[in-house]
Amino acid sequence: MSIGKLPGQVVSLRDAAAVAEDAARRLGDALRAAVVERGMASLALSGGNTPRPAYEQLALQPGVDWAKVSVFWIDERAVPPTHARSNFRLANESLLGRAPIPPGNVHRMLGDARDLAEAARAYEVVLSSKLGKASNVPVFDVAVLGIGDDGHTASLFPGEPSVLVRDRLVLAIAAAPELEREARLTVTAPVIEESRTVFVLAVGGAKRGPLARVAAAEGDLRETPSRLLLRAKGAVTWILDAAAAGAT
Ligand code: 6PG
Repeated sequence: MSIGKLPGQVVSLRDAAAVAEDAARRLGDALRAAVVERGMASLALSGGNTPRPAYEQLALQPGVDWAKVSVFWIDERAVPPTHARSNFRLANESLLGRAPIPPGNVHRMLGDARDLAEAARAYEVVLSSKLGKASNVPVFDVAVLGIGDDGHTASLFPGEPSVLVRDRLVLAIAAAPELEREARLTVTAPVIEESRTVFVLAVGGAKRGPLARVAAAEGDLRETPSRLLLRAKGAVTWILDAAAAGAT
């Protein structure tokens, strides 16, 4: 694979610990820059296993004015916020409980809502009312993404039409019991594309295939939803360990 063809800057590091350290530093830099440029910063978080140590170290970054940082989610699983699979819980344990972020700045997706379609609409209102817009789409200053072994990003999964949706900001995604996947809430491709800075964290050899599919000259968005990053308007940085980058 030629990871050089990934859209944006590629940072290839030794191992997961180096990815976490580098990601935390870059996220801190991006938040500080947003506060300097616009007086506030919006941070949108993904879940998964990879970002936890990066979030923990982000909480310790010097010079971030946390009172001016607002936190949003890229996606959430349909579970209560205390559940082991909750993306809110992950962020709460690793970042929100460690950095002095005012509770009023934290805007979680209601994965525990009875009606997820309604929760998706409600989160669209949150995004539209709290964030500045470009091309009528709310803009995150800093978005953290992962890439699934199957090529998904956010909760935009392969084989589903959700990655093609352009007229919504947030969607409810049905459960896929055959894949042991609960229902989800997710921002849509246009929201990710408009983000000012995007950091994609990927660790482990299982990410090599999907990364190669993003880097390929041609490919189907529905087969590899992470290819939506080819259309990103902001700065995309891929922070990979050697196994994901294919350097081992
Ligand atoms: C989620 C995510 C998802 C994640 C990827 C990568 O809630 O599941 O937001 O898009 O980023 O699945 O996950 P890993 O970090 O576990 O590889």
